[in-house]
Amino acid sequence: MTRTDNLSFAPDFDRALEFFQAQENYAVSPLIELKGPGGLNVYAKNETQRMGLGAFKALGAPYAVARVLEAVWQEKTGEILSAARMGDADIRDFAATQTFVCASAGNHGMGVAAGAQAMGAKARIHLAKSVPEGFGDRLRALGAEVVRSGDVYDESVAAAIADAETTGATLLADGTWPGYTDIPKLVMEGYCVIAEEMRQQFQASGRWPTHVYLQAGVGGLAAAMAHMIRLNWAEQPELIVVEPNAAACLKTSHLAGKPTRGEGPESNMGRLDCKEPSIVAWDVLERCDVRYETLAEEEGKAAAEAVTALGIATTPSGAAGYAALCKQTTEQGNAKETRPLVIISEGLA
Ligand SMILES: Cc1ncc(COP(=O)(O)O)c(C=O)c1O
Repeated sequence: MTRTDNLSFAPDFDRALEFFQAQENYAVSPLIELKGPGGLNVYAKNETQRMGLGAFKALGAPYAVARVLEAVWQEKTGEILSAARMGDADIRDFAATQTFVCASAGNHGMGVAAGAQAMGAKARIHLAKSVPEGFGDRLRALGAEVVRSGDVYDESVAAAIADAETTGATLLADGTWPGYTDIPKLVMEGYCVIAEEMRQQFQASGRWPTHVYLQAGVGGLAAAMAHMIRLNWAEQPELIVVEPNAAACLKTSHLAGKPTRGEGPESNMGRLDCKEPSIVAWDVLERCDVRYETLAEEEGKAAAEAVTALGIATTPSGAAGYAALCKQTTEQGNAKETRPLVIISEGLA
């Protein structure tokens, strides 16, 4: 990190909520109760249908695309765009001159492609060889250009960075690193909508969760949730950040006292298989009094089967929070008054 890196995270979540409330395909995602391990009532925030994209990531990149376009337009013309202006022909003509690039192992690329398409901009997504072709087809169906770059995710990230540097396209990553933090903070600002939706529901019912399990890849989701929960939830739960053993970059960073790679083999919790933490997310989590849990591969797989059997079809990444809850219940049991909350972060494609 350099001294100039601004790690502060002060999201304008009302602005994000207003943005989505103006979208036709926005709806508050379901917050349901499941019979979990040991007969526990478990709150499950079901992100598997979010805005037709099948994952919470639909709230991140599309929001950032709109905010970046607004900022570039304002810089160019001085005009502050209203929501009503966004669909006007001159704005769409301008958007058509703008390209967003990213690397993706899954849902973030879908978010960038969908966000660019919605605004009339272009998207170019770098996929490592390991990403199935079916995913490339889904991206192309959203109008994105797909480029095969490198054998593994890290190599596709390097390719996306180089692409932006050489072509002048805008890099829209979900991770942050020294010298690159502003745009991913907008992605995280979009995720804050999830926590705000839940806060309103818990406020209305008066029954708050006692534990919140947050699965993490680079940490953007976990940090956005942790920040919001500590900021404005009336009753404070324990926060547990959940990572695969194979990619525990946030726990490793916590133990090292600085952002540190979490080394390991490839994980079948593919969306959580991030070896480098987001430096902004790391910093937020350090201030939010969280604890860390890591998962064996079979724990993620078993949780995906259990949650799917409970009626929400999901993957090991989507069920990782539930996996950590099951693990804790087996190891320590649970007090009767425990009311855990998990986020089912993606559906089965
Ligand atoms: C389904 C799913 N769950 C969790 C995560 C973790 O989010 P983050 O990388 O912001 O920690 C991702 C990231 O891609 C994801 O796609």
